[in-house]
Amino acid sequence: MKRTVLVVAVVVAILGLGALAASAAPTYIGAEKCKMCHKIQYESWAQTKHAKATEGAKASKEWKFEAACLTCHATNKDEAMAGVQCEACHGAGSDYKTLSVMKDVAKAKAAGLTIPTQATCDACHDGKEHHKKQAFTKDVHAHKAAAK
Ligand code: HEC
Ligand code: HEC
Ligand code: HEC
Ligand code: HEC
Repeated sequence: MKRTVLVVAVVVAILGLGALAASAAPTYIGAEKCKMCHKIQYESWAQTKHAKATEGAKASKEWKFEAACLTCHATNKDEAMAGVQCEACHGAGSDYKTLSVMKDVAKAKAAGLTIPTQATCDACHDGKEHHKKQAFTKDVHAHKAAAK
């Protein structure tokens, strides 16, 4: 009896650890990696203010509050990921970046791909202070706006 309980406990512990490993948060890979397959989106994004969001804030006198600025003026709250890059809107890419996952949108979403909505924009364009609201649009990529 005692032995059965012990075996069950060990199995539960192993399964539990497995679940934890599988749910480890995806990490940011950077826009250069997305560019390999999404050259059009990359090149048009590079012309937007989002791409230069860190430079823009750094040029300001208020930059002394650096860490507070980087929550919105960078991709992962860190100057190493300068600019509001792809993953700030589409989710950290380490788990969806491979072709086999990416070509199946359902799989990609399960692996962390976000298809942006108004809520995505509101995370930074929260309507407070200088962070004025921006209405959701599919035209945030310059190539789409230009196609009109
Ligand atoms: C190995 C190539 C590859 C890489 C790297 C890649 N993608 Fe993709 N991606 C694809 C393919 C293929 C599709 C599906 C076909 C299409 O719509 O272009 C896709 C589709 C998408 C879509 C559209 C999903 C939809 O609504 O249909 C988004 C958004 C996207 N990728 C974002 C990214 C981002 C952000 C990165 C970098 C973190 C990235 N991709 C890296 C190949 C790639
Ligand atoms: C809550 C998110 C958020 C925080 C925190 C934040 N910003 Fe911003 N900032 C934005 C958004 C969003 C815009 C664009 C507003 C718009 O829609 O025009 C912006 C715009 C700016 C601009 C204008 C850019 C330009 O090219 O004219 C400057 C400068 C700036 N921010 C500096 C800073 C500095 C410095 C800090 C830290 C003290 C900071 N911001 C903190 C979200 C934020
Ligand atoms: C400011 C937020 C934002 C950023 C930054 C951003 N995207 Fe998007 N992306 C969107 C929105 C919004 C859509 C349209 C979603 C829809 O169709 O509902 C989209 C659509 C896409 C699509 C689908 C095909 C297309 O062209 O519409 C791909 C692929 C994509 N993005 C890749 C990227 C890549 C790669 C980067 C970085 C180089 C990037 N995105 C940066 C918001 C963003
Ligand atoms: C990670 C934070 C973040 C997210 C998410 C984000 N933005 Fe931004 N956005 C910024 C910052 C910061 C700036 C200012 C960049 C600069 O000028 O230096 C900006 C600038 C802009 C501008 C340019 C404003 C101008 O004065 O020309 C538009 C338009 C915009 N964002 C729309 C959107 C939309 C629409 C979405 C959602 C699809 C979105 N943004 C998502 C942070 C964000």
